[in-house]
Amino acid sequence: EKGGYEHFMLKEINEQPRSIADCMRGRLDAKNGRLVLGGLRDYMNKFQNAERIIITACGTSWHAGLVAEYLFEEFARIPVEVEYASEFRYRNPVVSEKDFVIAISQSGETADTLAAIELAKSKGATIFGVCNVVGSSIARATHAGSYTHAGPEIGVASTKAFTAQISVLTMMALKLGYQRGTLPESRYIQLLSELETIPGKVEKALKLNDQIEKIAAEYKDSRNFLYLGRGYNFPVALEGALKLKEISYIHAEGYPAAEMKHGPIALIDEEMPVVFIATKDSSYEKVVSNIQEVKARKGKIIAVVTEGDTSVRNLADHVIEIPATEEAFVPLLAVVPLQILSYHIAVMRGCNVDQPRNLAKSVTVE
Ligand code: F6R
Repeated sequence: EKGGYEHFMLKEINEQPRSIADCMRGRLDAKNGRLVLGGLRDYMNKFQNAERIIITACGTSWHAGLVAEYLFEEFARIPVEVEYASEFRYRNPVVSEKDFVIAISQSGETADTLAAIELAKSKGATIFGVCNVVGSSIARATHAGSYTHAGPEIGVASTKAFTAQISVLTMMALKLGYQRGTLPESRYIQLLSELETIPGKVEKALKLNDQIEKIAAEYKDSRNFLYLGRGYNFPVALEGALKLKEISYIHAEGYPAAEMKHGPIALIDEEMPVVFIATKDSSYEKVVSNIQEVKARKGKIIAVVTEGDTSVRNLADHVIEIPATEEAFVPLLAVVPLQILSYHIAVMRGCNVDQPRNLAKSVTVE
């Protein structure tokens, strides 16, 4: 049942080229410039004319929501709020029929997310679900939705569901941008073609396993980890830190790289590994200067970079090279080495990676 892998988590990490392709199958046809999301068809008008998009979720799904905030604002120019379902539901939030609410949930059973949906529904908003489990409570409670089609996720730490959520949200953002005219056709077509190459590029990123296992051996006894990224890679930093803490029980924090100087920099010494997501994108130069600041304080630097990068190599203790892609699609690739790093560290520490202590796969109580 684990398909020859030692743990479900490792199996699910390795399934990502296929699960992302499954998510896009029948929806994305770059050659003919077509993108069809069945669940969206009847609600496209509402979506296009929404005054605001509110995304609600918990945990890893909330991180996928943060990536979507960047996607929707960049391509469709609609303001986005990303809300922890547990906070949203108890805050008496301002919601109306002009809002389009997207609820993201792998299990489709998360109690707080379900309650947030009911609240937004009672205020007249349109609710769209991005769920993995077909027929789940959240899938049924929403007006419409698109399934992620990642297949069953058994490991408690979410991996392939996360990349499938981002895949659906990316397709939604591109479609919305195109329909609204905020994303010009030529650019839309270019992005669709690049999106189609992502499964192959994830496959390539999976080949980093052995290199990352060696890095894991070096840092498995660390007591803390810091993860830093900017822009589209800020949510990736949060997700990398969550993956590490939940399965290895090492304290880890994710931050937007530029926030480092407002506090976390005080933590840096020779005992602190800092994982940077420093791909060649619009904030690259700034992230490189953050790397220099960490180096000057003797922190250990593990950097996820774009293939062929030469500048970071001179600064970092370890560089992990991922294939180049559009800036907006980098999270789909950059998260993969972070999943692998957490997995190996947890295994080396003797942790139960598939069923970490105190955690449940679906959180049906608040
Ligand atoms: C982390 C993880 C949790 C879930 C969260 C939401 O690896 O699995 O943080 O993401 O409990 O669960 P769903 O997506 O089922 O609503």
